[in-house]
Amino acid sequence: MKDQLEKIREEALKQIDSSDALERLNDIRVAYLGKKGQLTAVLKSMKNVAPEDRPKVGQMVNEVREQIETRLEETKAELARKAREEQLKKEVIDVTLPAKKSEIGHSHPNTVALEEVERIFIGMGYEVVEGPEIEYDEYNFTKLNIPPNHPAKDEQDTFYINKDIVLRTQTSPVQARVMEKGKLPIRMISPGRVFRSDEVDATHSPSFHQVEGLVVDKNITFADLKGTLEEFAKEMFGENTKVKFRPHHFPFTEPSAEMDVSCFKCGGKGCRFCKGSGWIEILGCGMVHPHVYEMCGIDPDEVTGFAFGVGLERIALLKYEIDDMRLLYENDIRFLKQF
Ligand code: DAH
Repeated sequence: MKDQLEKIREEALKQIDSSDALERLNDIRVAYLGKKGQLTAVLKSMKNVAPEDRPKVGQMVNEVREQIETRLEETKAELARKAREEQLKKEVIDVTLPAKKSEIGHSHPNTVALEEVERIFIGMGYEVVEGPEIEYDEYNFTKLNIPPNHPAKDEQDTFYINKDIVLRTQTSPVQARVMEKGKLPIRMISPGRVFRSDEVDATHSPSFHQVEGLVVDKNITFADLKGTLEEFAKEMFGENTKVKFRPHHFPFTEPSAEMDVSCFKCGGKGCRFCKGSGWIEILGCGMVHPHVYEMCGIDPDEVTGFAFGVGLERIALLKYEIDDMRLLYENDIRFLKQF
């Protein structure tokens, strides 16, 4: 019996010492100390031991059990320590490495141009107002003196949601929305996205941006319009910029005009940029039509005012000398970073 216990002890300890995994230790525990384990079997065979020897053998069995258990615990702790060390080695963090820079993108030329336009007009006391991109036909057209059968309503040019609702084709409907509120005087600009059924090419896109302007007060004249827009052009394109107004037609203004600026590239001599003319067209404008006031609930005998609309992309393309509008919509960071 004594020899048998010695053998069990020796073998168990040897097996424990040569284990290199926690699961293996568990197998060993079961094999020796488990219900059907070798040591348990010895205990079960105690009945064959002479009664006077039993206490001694019993004590020996307990000693062996304790030894095996202690060695199992120690080895388990050691294996766990090694595993942790291994993991720490693998996950080593080098705090001296330079930090990874995260790319933070770049403002879009449209945004840069818009911020400039806003800065100029806010400086002249204007407020910035926004209107909906999905608009009632009535605001986009009717209230702006474009009656139901006007050619500007041609479905070829307009994305209709249904017969009464359109993707706005211009920012001018914001004029009607602001005037309707009836709070005078008005001095506002309204930037935003507009939509037209255009094919994409170097100068067209079915979705682009405009900035609308509206001033309504007592005694506003065409001289105010000219002075304001000239000031805008000089701030936007440089102190030496000259402006020129050409008669034009817009249904919601009378008289109406288009404004050209002298080419800031050649100073007006004529170059590739201004197609040899020395002038570049940048916006539409005019004195608010009396009928528009009436439809927006303002007495046309009480006030006068002017309005203008400028294409934001057009300004960005000109100011940053970009020769293809499509570049603005690709969002290539290499392109955007140049502005
Ligand atoms: N809405 C016009 C367009 O999209 C631009 C415009 C012209 C706006 C004259 C105005 C204006 O406010 O007075 O072509």
